[in-house]
Parts: sequence; C-alpha cells; structure tokens
Amino acid sequence: MATEKLQIYKCEVCGNIVQVLIPSYGELVCCNQPMKLQEIQHDKSEVGEKHAPVIEMREDKKFVTVKTHPMLKEHYIQFIEVYKKDKSELHLKYLNPDEIAEFNINCIPEEIDAIEYCNIHGLWGENKND
Ligand SMILES: [Fe+2]
Repeated sequence: MATEKLQIYKCEVCGNIVQVLIPSYGELVCCNQPMKLQEIQHDKSEVGEKHAPVIEMREDKKFVTVKTHPMLKEHYIQFIEVYKKDKSELHLKYLNPDEIAEFNINCIPEEIDAIEYCNIHGLWGENKND
C-alpha cells in the first residue's frame, strides 16, 4: 500500500515512530514486520482527559496549540505538529514530561491543521464541529 505525505507509522515491536516526508509505493517495515499506520483520532467527549489540540490566540497575537492532558513520565504528549492544510509546510515540537503541552507559533488558523501524539493513546487531531 502506497504511503501518503505526513503519515505517521509505528513499529508495534520496538516502538519506532516514523513520518513520511516524500511518499512512494514501498511498504514500511521494521523488526521484520509492516509498520502500523497511526490514524488521526478525534475526541468528541466533553469530560475527562482531552487529546484534541486546540488552536487559540494569545495576547501576543501568536496562535498556539494547547493541550488539556497529563504530562507525566508514564503518560504524556510526546510531540505536537502544525502543518499547512496543503502540506507545503510542517512544524514539529517535541515535548518532555512536566512541560506545558503547547506550541507557540505564528500561523493563520484557517490555513493549518494540528496533530499531537500521546505515548499511550496515539495520534489526535483537532475536534471538528461539522
Ligand atoms: Fe493520553
């Protein structure tokens, strides 16, 4: 199965996570088995732990993605990505436990998508109201 730009794959044996920068037709393999495509999940629930990134404006006029999610050593957001909807630009921020899960970046909210990766619950996108 051909890959697509910016797809994220994980090896279920060793935990390697890779992202497709330039797609092609080959299958991604690690530890002698196909890597698993990480589907973007959307959280519709209003209670409990939130995974969906939120794009908002701060006083300094920058737009940021913010998370309401644990940032503990055993359960945390490992990275946030912001990319243009046409996938012509990609910005990635790695996070560590105890950090605030936010990405302070100049952007036009209508032009971008944001995703984030939880070490336990996987890949999440923004909640869409439509
Ligand atoms: Fe989580």
